[in-house]
Amino acid sequence: MSGGHCGAGTPGGRLLCRLGDIPDGGGKGFWFGRDTARLGVFVVRKGNTVVAYLNSCPHRGTPLDWLPDRFLDRDGCHILCATHGALFRIGDGFCLSGPCAGAKLRAVRTVHRGGEIYLAESLSDLLSQAPGST
Ligand code: FES
Repeated sequence: MSGGHCGAGTPGGRLLCRLGDIPDGGGKGFWFGRDTARLGVFVVRKGNTVVAYLNSCPHRGTPLDWLPDRFLDRDGCHILCATHGALFRIGDGFCLSGPCAGAKLRAVRTVHRGGEIYLAESLSDLLSQAPGST
């Protein structure tokens, strides 16, 4: 799965990582919680822009990465689901092709401060959306 680690809690959000920890044109995954409430979040970076989504494919709810921190297709143009090959737009998570065409990845709000990326959503709210948490 992913090589990211949960960051320390900070006022205004949980630290995910530094922008420089994510290769330009690459991604990084993070896992929170455990067991049935385990939740994955991943970020994709293009220059100084970062987008974040739950690491859960709308088709079957499986993680998208095919290797740790590998979320993009070979061209680096789309997010790729490793399970059945669905392709998603990086900017808004819209599924362009595959078994869940027309669906969207669940976006996760982040904040950039001082070269660091923080979750801008409550971790407990995100964890309540983990598959199997209900
Ligand atoms: S689980 Fe992602 S395309 Fe099927």
